[in-house]
Amino acid sequence: MALLTGSNRINIAVFISGTGSNLNSLIKFSKLKKSPIIIKMIISNNYKAKGLQFANIYKIKKKVFDFKNTLSEKKVIYELKKNDIHFICLAGFMKILSRSFIKNFKGKIINIHPSLLPKYKGLNTYEKAIKNKDKYSGCTVHFVNSKLDSGKIINQKKVKINKFDTPETLAKRILIQEHKLYPAAIIKALSL
Ligand code: GRF
Repeated sequence: MALLTGSNRINIAVFISGTGSNLNSLIKFSKLKKSPIIIKMIISNNYKAKGLQFANIYKIKKKVFDFKNTLSEKKVIYELKKNDIHFICLAGFMKILSRSFIKNFKGKIINIHPSLLPKYKGLNTYEKAIKNKDKYSGCTVHFVNSKLDSGKIINQKKVKINKFDTPETLAKRILIQEHKLYPAAIIKALSL
C-alpha cells in the first residue's frame, strides 16, 4: 500500500556511516515545499561520521548505535518506533541490517548503491567497473531485503566511464547523480 496519501508527510530516518553528502541532499529535498518527507532522525553506527554535523546544522535528532548485535538493533527499533519513523533511507550506511530488523520495516527501507545493480554488489564498485572496461557505471536506489544490494530496484542513473577515469574521478561524477536520484527514488517508492 502506498505510504503517501494526500498531503501528509512521512517521517523518515536516514542511516549514515561517513561523509553524508547524500544525507545533505535529502535534507535539502525535505525542505522543499512539496516534499513528501520529514527527516526526523539521523542514525549512525559511527560516532565519528562526518555527516553527523548535518544533525547539528539542521537541528535534527541524531543517535549513534554500534549495530553489533540483536540487542543494539532492538534499541534502534525502539528509538525509531518512539519517534514515529515510517521509512528508512540508508545513505552510505556500512552495516548490514539483520533479517529481523528488516522484517520490522518490511518494504520501508531503501538504499543507494554506486553501481548499476545487479552488477557489482558490495564494495569497490568503481574499481570493478573500470577494470572490466565497462562503458557505463552509475547508481541505483533499491529496496533493502535480507540479501546484500539485491532488493527490488526503484531507479537507476547511468554515468559514462571516460578513458582516463580513476575510481576517484568516477566516484565523484556518480555521487553528483546520486544526489538527484535519491530524492526521485523516494517519491517513487512512497507512491508504490
Ligand atoms: C555513496 O556513494 C553511496 O552510494 C554509497 O556510499 C556513498 C556515501 O556517500 N552507499 P555519502 O556519505 O552520502 O557522501
